[in-house]
Amino acid sequence: MVSAEPLPPWRPLLRGAREREGRSPQARWLQLASVAVDGTPRLRTLVFRGWAAASELDLLTDGRSAKVAELGHQPAVELGWLLPRARCQFRLRGRLLILPAEQEASERQRHWQGLTPEGRALWGWPAPGEPLEDGACFPAELGEELPIPTCFRLLRIGLEQVELLELTNHPHHRRRWCREDGWLEQRLNP
Ligand SMILES: Cc1cc2nc3c(=O)[nH]c(=O)nc-3n(C[C@H](O)[C@H](O)[C@H](O)COP(=O)(O)O)c2cc1C
Repeated sequence: MVSAEPLPPWRPLLRGAREREGRSPQARWLQLASVAVDGTPRLRTLVFRGWAAASELDLLTDGRSAKVAELGHQPAVELGWLLPRARCQFRLRGRLLILPAEQEASERQRHWQGLTPEGRALWGWPAPGEPLEDGACFPAELGEELPIPTCFRLLRIGLEQVELLELTNHPHHRRRWCREDGWLEQRLNP
């Protein structure tokens, strides 16, 4: 998707660090932290599904999962992205964006079509986090011809602050960029 916003300076740094992971699937894994309804923290791993704009990224999840209820209550998130080969950690702060219904539908469909039948299968499974029932059905594949399950949810996160810690030098390097400052780089003590 074309974005009016110029590419923030941390984007090429993140791309470079991800490239150092080579073909490792880990380059696409990030940790999503949210706040539960009772105010306590929650953390889980998700797959990065691509950039939607200069500082907006997409995640896919199940609408029946706890995180969706948590984000509905409190849309602020922090994402942790560890790139071990580059020995660096990105921490991305932002919030869940509410998309116009038409855009949401077309983007959801685009992501659904981009998944493999095995990747789609998870959205055909019983509700995540519920007690496992005897004889429950967990399909191994879902074909593209089937209607998109209502539980298939796109989470578009708009980023507001990015922090990078690099352990490759002595001393370590720590930098922060805030959207409200036009992503101006600020150097911090590690
Ligand atoms: C490597 C890895 C990748 C995962 N990717 C996703 C993902 O893209 N989307 C997702 O909803 N859950 C993903 N999960 C499962 C989540 O970590 C989590 O267990 C699930 O979404 C339920 O979370 P919740 O109960 O906090 O909502 C992944 C787990 C692992 C270990």
